[in-house]
Amino acid sequence: MKFYEKELNLLVKSNRFRKRKIFDENIIDMASNDYLGLAKKKSLLKKAYQRLSKEKYHSSKASMLVNGYHPLHQKFEKKLMKLNNFEDCITVGSGFLANIALIESLVRKKDILFIDEQYHASGILATKLIQGKVVFFKHNNYEDLENKIKELLNNKNARMIIAIEGVYSMSATVAPKEFAILATKYNAILLVDEAHSSGVIGKNLLGWYDYWDIKIEPNYIKMGTLGKAYGSFGAYILASSHIVSYLENRAKSIIYTTSLSLFDTSLAFENLKYIQKNKNTIKDKIKSYQKIVYDILGIKVDSLIVPIEINDNKKVLVIQKELQSLGYIVGAIRQPTVKKAIIRMIIKLDITKKQLINICQIIKNRI
Ligand SMILES: Cc1ncc(COP(=O)(O)O)c(C=O)c1O
Repeated sequence: MKFYEKELNLLVKSNRFRKRKIFDENIIDMASNDYLGLAKKKSLLKKAYQRLSKEKYHSSKASMLVNGYHPLHQKFEKKLMKLNNFEDCITVGSGFLANIALIESLVRKKDILFIDEQYHASGILATKLIQGKVVFFKHNNYEDLENKIKELLNNKNARMIIAIEGVYSMSATVAPKEFAILATKYNAILLVDEAHSSGVIGKNLLGWYDYWDIKIEPNYIKMGTLGKAYGSFGAYILASSHIVSYLENRAKSIIYTTSLSLFDTSLAFENLKYIQKNKNTIKDKIKSYQKIVYDILGIKVDSLIVPIEINDNKKVLVIQKELQSLGYIVGAIRQPTVKKAIIRMIIKLDITKKQLINICQIIKNRI
């Protein structure tokens, strides 16, 4: 019996059918979120392994709230706290779990969540799990947010939580700093998903708060992932001690799950140290690569994501296939991930200047 045949056929008909596949490892990767190219840096892998080998246990074994909290987690959390200037930090199994943890536990029955309409699917899923009110505001539009806050302000008992991303994964837009100003003005919690901004933007490559030079307040929360620029896997939440303590007590996807893998923690730790040590070189390279993209494609980006709007599901697949035959892999993103189909090219820092110029020129001739 094929229980879901009708649904699958519909997806095929609308060019939205997906299938996971293994790509040739020799193809030039311009599709993944390994922004800084650390996922194949063997010297860092070796250091992470050596660090972990010295520990009595190399697996996390249990939830953090049982006995799965390891000194390595704690050291890494302290490093993140200090760098980002937050009062406390907690590591989490993944960014997906972190968004579920935050939204599901922070937005209680009488509270109101204001969330950007382009927020990541994990946050949107979490909105279905809560009893509080959910209000979507127009993408990156802080005026729309303020109007919506004003409409609901008479409910004085409600806590307000504003959820945005630092850099949006598909449109590559950076959230304006006015969101932080508004959060403080209305005494709201500000949750910033920094999956695509930490390690990529900011004076110290720390992400959105760093980019806008925002002084950290107790109502600010930062969620960062370790599987993208940090070249490992997992996530972390930075917040006031009060909020971290609350998460430890209420967030189901932190409490009822095995703590972050120690190997991933060790690798993220080494990678973070590497990024901080080499931040000036990395920043210079980011700038020069962004300039190449601008000069050839006319697309100005602040991060390392280049969305190229095609608006035709079939055509993005054709372009992706063609690029693949020339040795490059880029993302062909369709609905429901985006409204209009795009080619998502990642300016990965491990590719050469020549390769970047070449792919930009090829794309220019196809669009
Ligand atoms: C904006 C954003 N938030 C959260 C996640 C989930 O993070 P993870 O892959 O660590 O589960 C992703 C993507 O994976 C993302 O793009």
